[in-house]
Amino acid sequence: MPGASTAIDREVENTIKEIEKTIVVPIPDDVPRLVIPDMGVPDDDILEQLESRRDFGATSWEDGKVSGVVYHGGKDLVDLTNKAFALFNLSNPLHPDVFPGLRKIEAEIVKMVLDLYNAPDGACGATTSGGTESIIMAVRAHIIWARKHRGISNPNMQVFTFVFPTTAHAAFEKAVEYFGIEATRVPVDSKSQKVDINAVKRAINRNTCLIVGSAVTYPHGVADDIEALGKLAEKYKIGLHVDCCLGSFIMPFLKEAGFPAPAFDFRVAGVTSISCDTHKYGFAPKGSSVVMYRNKTLRHCQYYTITGWPGGIYASPSIAGSRPGSLIAGCWAAMLKMGKMGYLESCRDIVGCRVRIQAAIEVMPELEVIGDPCASVIAFGTASSSSRLNIFAIMDAMKTRGWILSPLQHPECVHLACTRLTVLVTDKFIQDIRDAIDEVKAEPEKYAKGSAAIYGMAVAIPDQTIVEDICNGFIDTLYEV
Ligand SMILES: Cc1ncc(COP(=O)(O)O)c(C=O)c1O
Repeated sequence: MPGASTAIDREVENTIKEIEKTIVVPIPDDVPRLVIPDMGVPDDDILEQLESRRDFGATSWEDGKVSGVVYHGGKDLVDLTNKAFALFNLSNPLHPDVFPGLRKIEAEIVKMVLDLYNAPDGACGATTSGGTESIIMAVRAHIIWARKHRGISNPNMQVFTFVFPTTAHAAFEKAVEYFGIEATRVPVDSKSQKVDINAVKRAINRNTCLIVGSAVTYPHGVADDIEALGKLAEKYKIGLHVDCCLGSFIMPFLKEAGFPAPAFDFRVAGVTSISCDTHKYGFAPKGSSVVMYRNKTLRHCQYYTITGWPGGIYASPSIAGSRPGSLIAGCWAAMLKMGKMGYLESCRDIVGCRVRIQAAIEVMPELEVIGDPCASVIAFGTASSSSRLNIFAIMDAMKTRGWILSPLQHPECVHLACTRLTVLVTDKFIQDIRDAIDEVKAEPEKYAKGSAAIYGMAVAIPDQTIVEDICNGFIDTLYEV
């Protein structure tokens, strides 16, 4: 109805304006920089302005109250990686002839991560800018592989489907949209939150090129049954990608750290590719991940080459052309500094922190743990017996205590990705969550309008394009000066 749609448009506009007010905040005494200054600005002034902008209104992650985001944060490691950045500031792996040492560093990062993931002889990989790019590359590799090696001439990308659990990271949806392929989303078991293996089996058809499992999932920190998925991949001769972006440097150390350790790596025969984020629990600076393949045939399917371009014969491994060598050097330095013993200790502390928080939540009658977490992430919602208590109101009450938790939906819950910084405030978290619950119970109205209202509205809106409009408006605000 025209009248209704105008009213909705107005509401969307108002909502975006509200978002803008919280995001585009003026910084006191800050000089706006809207055009390149005619004369260069002195170094000291530049650094002073950078520092003031860094510090303005920033959530202090240093006290360990932010879910994920900064996974290590130790000064020694930051100092070392800064020095590594400086040494390779100008370098670019697109030019291995100019920066031969950088090439070696990058190759060694891939080799070390392959070793961690028990890769067989002939396995290989590439570095990327992060988990999303690693996943997009693995999807591309399997599509091209299906075109080239499954005998389909003149293929239409639509003929390739791939099958992934609804809990798989949004990066898989992004890949589906970017490549214009079909995908089947498979439900997860409502109790364990692991993908329903029978549903995966039913979804596989003759055009399927890839199935997906996570170790662990972003929402609930759960490992899918990779062994069962591997058997399906072998049986139907299709690819299996294991998303270890978040499991990164936790999954490989679980067993030695004394925790139950589900299968996740190349020891499962059907696994054809794995993504592992060095910039999460590998503690590398942001902008760093590794995608691994069981063999070179698959990795070749990731590459892009053009031989007849007037700019010369061009070949690059991933989406980017030029890439920052400084990040690669920073990643390599972080891995060497940590060493396997450092990662083992981190795994023990971080997963130990999740286990303690889980045990505490399990005895809180108002809350229930979602799924069967095995690594660093714990998700929880309100127990069915406390259905009038809103988990997002509790999340907001935690925010007033300095905690930034991540909201999740289907089912409604929140999660905490424990880091080395959370380890130091485990008891504080347990105490604060107890207090937050009591506060929301005592004053339910106090937090009724915040995240609880937003998420309640988002779920209730029948037309999800309205939510998409708000998301687009949100991204627009990020570029407002
Ligand atoms: C399981 C999983 N996969 C992929 C990603 C995407 O990683 P990035 O944000 O580095 O692109 C994430 C990010 O949290 C994740 O948790």
